Amino acid sequence: MVVLAAAVVTKGGKAVISRQFREMQRSRIEGLLASFPKLTIAGQQHTTVETEHVRYVYQPLDELFMVLITNRQSNILQDIESLHLFARVVADTCRSCDEREILRNAFELLSAFDEIISEGYRENVNLSQVKSIIEMESHEEKIQEIIARNKEQEAKEELKRKAKQLEMQRREAAKRGQMYMQGNYSGGFSGNRASPSLEPTVQAATEQRSTYNSSPAPAASRAKGMKLGHKGKSADIFEAIKSEVEEPLLRSPAVTLAPISTHPQESVHVTAEERMRLVANRDGGLEQLEVKGVLVLKISNPDDGKVRILVNAEEDSSIQFKTHPKVDKTLFKNENVVQMGDPSRSFPINQPLEVVRWRYITQDETSIPLSINCWPSPAGDGTCDVNVEYELMADHLELKDVIVSIPLPSSSQPNVNQVDGEYSYDPQRRTLDWQIAVINSSNKEGVLEFNVAGDDVDAFFPTQVSFYSEKLLCNVDVLDVQSVETGEPTQFSKEILLLAEDYSVV
Ligand SMILES: *[C@@H]1O[C@H](CO)[C@@H](O)[C@H](O)[C@H]1NC(C)=O
Ligand SMILES: *[C@@H]1O[C@H](CO)[C@@H](O)[C@H](O)[C@H]1NC(C)=O
Ligand SMILES: *[C@@H]1O[C@H](CO)[C@@H](O)[C@H](O)[C@H]1NC(C)=O
Repeated sequence: MVVLAAAVVTKGGKAVISRQFREMQRSRIEGLLASFPKLTIAGQQHTTVETEHVRYVYQPLDELFMVLITNRQSNILQDIESLHLFARVVADTCRSCDEREILRNAFELLSAFDEIISEGYRENVNLSQVKSIIEMESHEEKIQEIIARNKEQEAKEELKRKAKQLEMQRREAAKRGQMYMQGNYSGGFSGNRASPSLEPTVQAATEQRSTYNSSPAPAASRAKGMKLGHKGKSADIFEAIKSEVEEPLLRSPAVTLAPISTHPQESVHVTAEERMRLVANRDGGLEQLEVKGVLVLKISNPDDGKVRILVNAEEDSSIQFKTHPKVDKTLFKNENVVQMGDPSRSFPINQPLEVVRWRYITQDETSIPLSINCWPSPAGDGTCDVNVEYELMADHLELKDVIVSIPLPSSSQPNVNQVDGEYSYDPQRRTLDWQIAVINSSNKEGVLEFNVAGDDVDAFFPTQVSFYSEKLLCNVDVLDVQSVETGEPTQFSKEILLLAEDYSVV
C-alpha cells in the first residue's frame, strides 16, 4: 500500500500544505489536488473516491479537507485509519483548522506527517507517539535555540569587554603620553583586529539563522521562529520543500510506485460502510443514535458485470433500506439480493455504484454500542475526582483505536490514578485523551480515574468518543456474489467499515 501524499486542501482544491512521500512533480500534485473537489459530490457520505490512477481518502476539517492520495491497490482500511491519525494530528497541533493556523504550524505538521508515513508506507505509530516525538523535537530545538542565543550573547559580551579593556589601555597610554605603537598593541587594539577571533562565533550564530531565514521558503510555510534553528528533521523537510519549489520541472518522473497491497481487490469489489452519529447524555441516556450506511459495488472486469450480491440485511423495522433505482427493489426486499432491475444488463464497469443505502435512527438506550460514563465529583478542595468507564454493549463489535477525549476545567495537568489502556494530556486543547487500542467482548469494560484542578463539573462535557470497527452496527454483510446467468459464485473482495463520526456525551 502506498500513500503518495498527505495534504490539507481548501474546498476549491488549493493545497494549504502537502507532503509527498514519493517523488512527484509539483505540477502533478497540484493537479491531483485541484481535481479532487470535482470528484467529491457535496453531501455524499463517502470517504474515498477513485480515478483511473489514484484514490483519494478524505475527511472534512472544518472548512478544509484532510486528503490522502494513495495508489489504487492501497489498503483502504489502513488508509482510513491513517487519515484519522493525520486529522487528529492537525486538530491537535492547530488551535483551529483554518488556513492561517495551518500555515502557521506548517513545519510542525509536516514533521508530524513524516512520522506517520515514510516513503509511502505507514509507520507503526499512534497519536501519542507522534505527539511525543514532535514534543521531543521541539524541546530539543528550544534547547538549541537557547544555547545559540547564549553563545551569541557571550560573544557580544566578550567583544564589549575587550573593547572596554582596549579603551582603557588606550587612555592609559595617552595619559602616559606615550605614542601609540602599532607593534605593541597589534594583538590588542583596533577592535577590527582583536575581534576576528570573536566575530566568527557571532557570525556563525547569525549566519545559521539567516541561512534558514533567507532561503526561499515556500509561500505556504511561515514557520515558527523556534523551528528555524533546528537542524534535524525540519531542516530535511525544508530542503525537501525548497527543492520542490525551486526545481519542480527538473525532477525525473516518479521512480517507484510499486503496487504492493495486502488487500488485493478482486474484479468484483464490495464496500460496506457505516457512519455513526451519537449523542448520549451524561446520565447514560441516549439523545439520538443515527447510522447511515452504504453498500458500494465496483466491477472492473466487464465479464463480471452481470452479477448478483447476496447480502445479510437483518429484518428490523427501524432500519430503512433503499436501493439504487437500477437495482431490483423487490428482489432486495424479499431476498436481500442486489441485482440489476433488468437482469440482462450489466452493472457499470470501473465506476463505483452505491447499490444500497440504509439509515437507522433510534432513541432506544439499549442500542448504544459503547456506553461511556463520565462521572466528575468535586473533592471539596477546588479539585474534581473524575471516574470514567466504558462498557461495550454491542458484543458483536470489535472497536479499534478508541479515543475518549475529556475536556478539562483548568489548564493544570490532571493526575491519573488508574487507567485501562493509555492516556495523554493535551495542554493546548485542554483535554485528557483516553486511548484504548481494542474493545471487544474479551475486553468489555475499562476505567479511567483522575483528579484535576477545577470544580466545575459541566466543564467535562461534551466528552468526545471516536473509534472504527470492521463490523457494522446494523450487521449488514456481503455473503456471496454470483453470476446472474449461471448462478455460479464469482470471486469478490469486500471491505467493511464502521466509523464513529461524531459521538459525544453531553
Ligand atoms: C607594551 O604594552 C604593554 C601593556 O600592554 C606595556 O606594559 C609595555 O610597556 C608596552 N611596551 C612598549 C614598548 O610600549
Ligand atoms: C501507542 O504505541 C505505544 C508503543 O507501541 C503503545 O505502548 C501504546 O499502547 C499505543 N497506544 C494506543 C492507544 O494504541
Ligand atoms: C479481543 O481483542 C484482543 C486484542 O486484539 C484479541 O487478542 C482477542 O482475541 C479479541 N477477543 C475476541 C473475542 O475477539
